[in-house]
Amino acid sequence: MKEKLEALRVKALGELETLETPKELEEFRVRLLGKKGEVTELLRGMGALPAEERPKMGQLINQLRSELEAALSEREKNITTLLKEKRLKEETLDVTLPGTKKKEGGLHPLNIVLNDLIDIFQSMGFDVVDGPEVETEHYCFEALNVPKDHPARDMQDTFYLAENLLLRTQTSAAQARTMEQRKPPIRMICPGRVFRADEVDATHSPVFHQVEGLVVDKGITLCDLKGVLEQFAHEIYGPETQVKFRPSFFPFTEPSVEVDVTCSECGGKGCRVCKGTGWIEILGAGMVHPRVLAGCGIDPEEYTGFAFGIGLDRLTTTRYKISDIRLLFENDQRFLEQF
Ligand code: PHE
Repeated sequence: MKEKLEALRVKALGELETLETPKELEEFRVRLLGKKGEVTELLRGMGALPAEERPKMGQLINQLRSELEAALSEREKNITTLLKEKRLKEETLDVTLPGTKKKEGGLHPLNIVLNDLIDIFQSMGFDVVDGPEVETEHYCFEALNVPKDHPARDMQDTFYLAENLLLRTQTSAAQARTMEQRKPPIRMICPGRVFRADEVDATHSPVFHQVEGLVVDKGITLCDLKGVLEQFAHEIYGPETQVKFRPSFFPFTEPSVEVDVTCSECGGKGCRVCKGTGWIEILGAGMVHPRVLAGCGIDPEEYTGFAFGIGLDRLTTTRYKISDIRLLFENDQRFLEQF
């Protein structure tokens, strides 16, 4: 029994030196000194000893117990110091090291131009409305007087999601929605993404951006349309910019116009950007077709209106002299950082 005690003592003290974490120490304590621990078991086993050996053995076991307890708390202290030292070493800060700079975010050029545009139109009394990108044939075409056999409805131009459900090809869809919901006077713009099944190249993308505008009130004329759009062009491109209204055709406006401004790159002399013409087309517009007004429950005898659709991507590329529309969609940080 005595030898057994000594062997346990040597083994336990040796093991203690190898323990490195508080968790290991606790496991050690339970295994030896706990209720079912080895030392406790020894005490229990004393019953089997002859009566005269019991006091002596009891004393020895209790001695071992105290010795182990003392060694345990000593080791605990050492470990705590070791851990602390290790942590201090790991967490040292070298304040002389150069810092790593966080990249600063910024507005996308499309949003910069859009914000300017919103400012300009809000100052003229327009409010900003939102419209869904997934539209019905009704709002994208029917309500806008686009007949069933019109090429714009062709599967080749329009992304259909289901029968009667499509990705809007023009923000004009928001015109009909607004006129159905509100009574005149109406003065709104609706910026947003539009989708057309176009091949991608330097000037085309299947996703692009328009800003729709709509004004409906009593006595609105083509003069009002010209005034508003000239004001807008001068604020965006500068007061020296000339604005040209060309007759055009859209099913939902009558008469219809397309609006060109003098090229911001060459000032109208003709260059690569304007393909030598001196002019850049920025929008389509016209007087809201009486049939469209009537279809939305607005009496065309009482009210007239005008609408326009600005190509935001074109506005942005000409303003910043961006040579390829694809740059607007690639999210290349080296490009975006320049704005
Ligand atoms: N929706 C037309 C287009 O996408 C532009 C437009 C808007 C024309 C409003 C007239 C009035 O080409």
